Amino acid sequence: MSRIRPAAVMILAAGAGTRMKSATPKVLHSIAGRSLVGHALAAAYELDPQRVVVVVRHERDKVAGHISQIAPHALLADQDDIPGTGRAAFCGLSALDATAVAAQVAAGAVGDTAVLDTQAEGAIVVTSGDVPLVDGELLGALVDSHADAGAAVTVMTAKVPDPTGYGRVVRDAGTDEVLAIVEHKDASEAEREIDEINSGIYVFDAAVLRGALAQIGQDNAQGEMYLPDVLEIARREGGRTHAFVAPEAGAVEGVNDRVQLAQLGRELNARIVTGWMREGVTIQDPATTWIDADVQLAADVTVLPGTQLKGATVVASGATVGPDTTLTDVQVGAGATVIRTHGSASVIDEDATVGPFAYLRPGTHLGTDGKIGAFVETKNASIGAHSKVPHLSYVGDATIGEHSNIGAATIFVNYDGVNKHHSTIGSHVRIGSDNSLIAPLEIGDGAYTGAGAVIRRDVPAGALGRNSSPQQVVEGWVLDRRPGTKSASAAQEALRTHDDGLSEGARVERAAANKKTEGES
Ligand code: UD1
Ligand code: CA
Repeated sequence: MSRIRPAAVMILAAGAGTRMKSATPKVLHSIAGRSLVGHALAAAYELDPQRVVVVVRHERDKVAGHISQIAPHALLADQDDIPGTGRAAFCGLSALDATAVAAQVAAGAVGDTAVLDTQAEGAIVVTSGDVPLVDGELLGALVDSHADAGAAVTVMTAKVPDPTGYGRVVRDAGTDEVLAIVEHKDASEAEREIDEINSGIYVFDAAVLRGALAQIGQDNAQGEMYLPDVLEIARREGGRTHAFVAPEAGAVEGVNDRVQLAQLGRELNARIVTGWMREGVTIQDPATTWIDADVQLAADVTVLPGTQLKGATVVASGATVGPDTTLTDVQVGAGATVIRTHGSASVIDEDATVGPFAYLRPGTHLGTDGKIGAFVETKNASIGAHSKVPHLSYVGDATIGEHSNIGAATIFVNYDGVNKHHSTIGSHVRIGSDNSLIAPLEIGDGAYTGAGAVIRRDVPAGALGRNSSPQQVVEGWVLDRRPGTKSASAAQEALRTHDDGLSEGARVERAAANKKTEGES
């Protein structure tokens, strides 16, 4: 936040981003779960400006579509075929001025007599769509510095070890004011020695910007309209041109290729992780913990190594997540434990336990103190409070009441090859191990099913559903059919030495086994 409210923040995002070598426009690549332009928009809105405008051209429809989704109130300005950041700013400013006119017309239409300006006026912040570490705090400090200096233009600069490629900031030796910004390609040997670079982020007085942009040419090494030329013009016309040196040079770095995308992604993650630790979250291994920008964590959450918290994931106090867990858009309740789990679009209520090796697909809701245990997959499944699915199961398209237990290796057979069907299991139900529950199905409160059952018909409250066929025992089968195997010798040994509780048939077998052993010795 800044002390003064800018008239507008303008985000330049019309460039091609060739070095990404991607079918996806550069500003739509993401770090920390947000597109690069999404980071720029988030920073812009933190200043509470009257308007936000994004200048687009390259892959216009993809970029515009994304922006209208994530920031529906942002204006879009189309840059024409004239290249350069100066032209981009001109197109952005024209769009702002056009809305100022539209606002006046609208006010007139409702009979409002208030006099409105037909042009944007005040401070206009210009930033880039590809500088994701520039946050609202840094932009706010820039705006404050601009106001304090009473400047016509303030440029954010940085001192860097290798300024190659950047515009160099040429200062007046006496006043320290910015005389000009010289692009690398246009710079003299002496100018290339300057290690203070233009970050590409500025605050302009709207009238100064409008006046100067009208005078900018394309007579330079790249044949483009350069936005930084505004500084020289503003100064010539008596405006003060101020430089605000970014406290951390790394924060103004842009993304030009995938190497920088990864580097800035790691840096942003480190900031997010550090921020949460300062808010009272225990993060055992910051290097292997990845937290998206929009995730919310309460104090006294514990995050164990190898964990990624993505999207709109929210974790409540006292919960432990990890190790080796990836949650996207998952709500984790207070005191819950989620171990070695992959989950998305799910809700885990307080004190519930999940994992290890659980797979929570969208629509999973685990109630308070419930359990989704090892090697369990769930989808569109509501598992009530205190109910448990402890081992090796698939629960899809199901509603389970409270205090029920689903035996190990139970499959909710929800798909008939064409349609999905729903199962409803009551409260205090005991499903035996290794059941196939064939949907659509209803099992009433307090019902049981036997182990190994295939349940095709509803089981009413309090009933037992079972259908396993009687077990056959074929005595001596192994000695007969698998002679010479280790199983046969083990069986032979057992039959020779023990006869407690043996059936008549087994006794005969044992006698035969003994005879055989005698014959061999
Ligand atoms: C620009 C600055 C340079 C500064 C550097 C910081 C100019 C002439 N130079 O150089 O002084 O050190 O940024 O990174 O401004 N864009 C448009 N339309 C265009 C061209 C660019 O919208 O026609 C946008 C890009 O999408 C990008 C931003 O403007 O977001 C900067 O463009 P880029 O091409 O990266 O400028 P540089 O040449 O790096
Ligand atoms: Ca650049």
